[in-house]
Amino acid sequence: MWGPPAPTRGRVVSGMRPTSRLHLGNLEGALRLWVDLQRRDQCFFLLADLHALTTGCDAGGDHRTLVREMLLDWLAAGLDPNESVIFVQSEVPAHAELALLLAMITPVPWLERCTTYKDWMATPDVARSAGLGLLAYPVLQAADILLYRATTVPVGRDQAQHVELTRDIASRFNALFGEVFTAPDALYSAAPALKGTDGRKMSAVYGNAIYLGDTAGVLERKVAAMFTDPARVFRGDPGHPDRCPVYGLHGCYNVSEVQAIGQDCGTGHLGCVDCKSVLSKCINSALGGLRERRAALQAEPDLLSDILRDGARKARAASEETLARVHEAMGL
Ligand code: TRP
Ligand code: SF4
Repeated sequence: MWGPPAPTRGRVVSGMRPTSRLHLGNLEGALRLWVDLQRRDQCFFLLADLHALTTGCDAGGDHRTLVREMLLDWLAAGLDPNESVIFVQSEVPAHAELALLLAMITPVPWLERCTTYKDWMATPDVARSAGLGLLAYPVLQAADILLYRATTVPVGRDQAQHVELTRDIASRFNALFGEVFTAPDALYSAAPALKGTDGRKMSAVYGNAIYLGDTAGVLERKVAAMFTDPARVFRGDPGHPDRCPVYGLHGCYNVSEVQAIGQDCGTGHLGCVDCKSVLSKCINSALGGLRERRAALQAEPDLLSDILRDGARKARAASEETLARVHEAMGL
């Protein structure tokens, strides 16, 4: 439902950089929370394609394809364009403009202090081509959030500093020019981070991810090749489920059996091959509906275009209202 928010309805803004396909970690750690929030609050979800440029505008990447793939994942996971405003950041010019205006009042040392910035600069490829936009990344993110006067920003813990900075920028702006912005709160998912196939945190960068777009067969092969308890050499050896990433996924996708599996692994009664094939079946059945929705949407490119056009129109209306107040406050 679109319209002015009812007094009890909070405002949610969040986004993702369309740099890679989404995986189970993104689904459990972010998308499920977003889907829940859209029933309660007025939500704005942005495909942050401008943010994607900060670490690779020369990658020859086909940004539009990446945006569409991400939109497919979002919709398949349950984001509903009738409930939430879903749009592409670059199609709403107020983001770039507000970022520029906020840049005028954001001290450079605040940005240099950001862990995300320091981490990127420790990556030689990125550091070599890093532009001003990378340093200003959190300012653009603050603009994303403040434009819609968000009360709640659901993000991963790695984004805590960016939300904190948004609050600092908002209060600095308000102190200088009068009360225009609301300070938002970060909201973290309660779901524990999922482990990838190699036992490290699931991440596209590590190449250990199971993607929402993976077919049932691809998923089975990935699970079959997963690392297990390294101390377990022979089938009858007692295992240590708490050291095994397969067990972690059972905890998420096979809740009813996870305890028994832990026991049978610990006593050496359950072999890893069987344990993995049970897991594959569970994940495949959990993803069944999502895969069907994804395939159905994929067959309707015009529908995707309509959703984005409609989302951008609503986001433009809401953001231009805030931008007008900012102009007014700054005396432009
Ligand atoms: N920086 C966020 C990330 O990497 C993505 C993002 C862009 C975002 N704009 C946002 C998140 C606004 C929350 C609100 O995950
Ligand atoms: Fe991991 Fe399952 Fe093998 Fe135990 S039986 S080590 S939980 S894969």
